[in-house]
Amino acid sequence: MRIVIANDHGAVALKHELVDFLRSAGHEVANLGVDTEDRVDYPDKAREACLEFLKGGYDFGIVLCGTGIGISIAANKIDGIRCALVHDAFTARLAREHNDANFLALGGRVTYAEKPADILAAFMAARYEGGRHADRLVKIAKLEMTSGS
Ligand code: RB5
Repeated sequence: MRIVIANDHGAVALKHELVDFLRSAGHEVANLGVDTEDRVDYPDKAREACLEFLKGGYDFGIVLCGTGIGISIAANKIDGIRCALVHDAFTARLAREHNDANFLALGGRVTYAEKPADILAAFMAARYEGGRHADRLVKIAKLEMTSGS
């Protein structure tokens, strides 16, 4: 698979862990994240990763910050991005099967009950089920055109 990944300073170690996991399994990874703990703004990293993904040729993307919260919120502001902030392998699998998530978000300062690489592996092994979920994805896409007024 071809994967784009980006992180802020809150998830450098997690990014390396996931990139090592992916590359050792033979996947191609575009690393747009930072490799030091110098402060950067997670919306900028979300933007870079999502715009790169939208150019095409990627299977999915990964965004990481301290909690995964800020960078997932930012990613989900971009049309066409369905970024899932998952908690474990179960939610990672369902993010794919039900929500057809094209981005996975995790937090570098979060303690997970499962290894982050196992959570990522569950996401990668799952496939979108379509069917009853398809109408809901259409409704999500329509929300991208919704303003508050
Ligand atoms: C950065 O200090 C931190 O706020 C960021 O990594 C993330 O946790 C935001 O949601």
